[in-house]
Amino acid sequence: MSKMHFLHLGKQPIANGFLNQEQFDDEFFYNLSVGFDEETCLVTQLDYVKPELMFNEDYAYRGSMSKTMVNHFSEFSKSFKNRINKPNILEIGSNDGVFLKNWDKKNTFAVEPCANFAKETNDLGYKTYCDFWNRNLAEKIGQENGYMDLIFAANCICHIPDLDETFSAVESLLKPHGLFVFEDPSLASMINNNSYDQIYDEHPHIFSVMALSKLLKRNGLEIVRVDSLSVHGGSNRIWAQKIDHNTRPDIDRYLDYERVIGLDDIECFKRFAERVAQSKEDLRNLLTRCADQDKKVISYGATSKSTTVFNYCDVGPDLISCITDTTPEKQHKYSPGMHIPILPQKDSDVFDYAFLGAWNFAEEIKKKELYFGGRFITHVPTVRIVE
Ligand code: TYD
Repeated sequence: MSKMHFLHLGKQPIANGFLNQEQFDDEFFYNLSVGFDEETCLVTQLDYVKPELMFNEDYAYRGSMSKTMVNHFSEFSKSFKNRINKPNILEIGSNDGVFLKNWDKKNTFAVEPCANFAKETNDLGYKTYCDFWNRNLAEKIGQENGYMDLIFAANCICHIPDLDETFSAVESLLKPHGLFVFEDPSLASMINNNSYDQIYDEHPHIFSVMALSKLLKRNGLEIVRVDSLSVHGGSNRIWAQKIDHNTRPDIDRYLDYERVIGLDDIECFKRFAERVAQSKEDLRNLLTRCADQDKKVISYGATSKSTTVFNYCDVGPDLISCITDTTPEKQHKYSPGMHIPILPQKDSDVFDYAFLGAWNFAEEIKKKELYFGGRFITHVPTVRIVE
């Protein structure tokens, strides 16, 4: 794959690597650079971080921490249940079971390389393979449980460096008319929102429909439907199946739209890189002004996205005094790289501004935080104070 470099986001740590003080000296860093592959139009990192460094027994991200996501998976599951009776299902990247819990334990299986979460869903009764997804594992799952009607993955496929291995493994485990449904942040939304913080170690790729269509095709799969979703700042849910020359895929309007905004042209990404540099300058200026005026700024949501923002923009505890988060695994630790303390949120906390680290949940957060007399700061799509 020949990648044309267009963006450098500096020295970055493991985005979900929340740590204790005694771990500061041994923290791992890498250079986060992003390129564009001319052949497939895939936007992808130049060097991938080893998956074992990110996905292990200490993994801290819990999908069920937001009501929005719990409802999102429940709604999808309900709608899918109307299509087929008692499907054989596999989820790749099942995390804490936020999707699995909508399904029957007898014929729902899961793959999850993070041992803490694989144990949790095994304990719930869902047979979970604690491993990385690949062809060997697909073969083993097929032998033990049969072929699948649905292979589902949410915010997982864009985590996997080798997409050919991933897609061919999926193809090998699907029933002839089985569906592969997966959702990940959309490249079009990232470009439109200037949300460069979608890029971090766990997201080696940010997908366009255009790139996925080519990559799936060379592994025997075709896209038959795309749903635009609002979750995670704009995602695409891709519906794919084994190539069948009798189907009439309805994806042209997505491909046309992506061509109009230039997702097949390196110039689009060069312009994006310029906007990213401007966003950094604007955020540093705003936070420095707040500090000069003795305003207390916290961050809301210890997200992977905010790891990218704070490390790229060099924002540390001098500018953001703490980060609040509801996830027990993150609380009382420090943020990766910049070492900002992470605390549970208490209603009594007094602050002037909250930076929306979880800007993708802005609506859910604003509803919850009606008591909050301060104001929010966001960098998406441009840096500003939200009244
Ligand atoms: P998410 O945006 O999914 O993060 P990532 O960038 O890592 O994919 O995660 C949201 C984080 O914010 C998660 O750690 C839970 C936390 N959170 C709160 O603390 N309070 C809230 O009200 C919500 C919605 C999320």
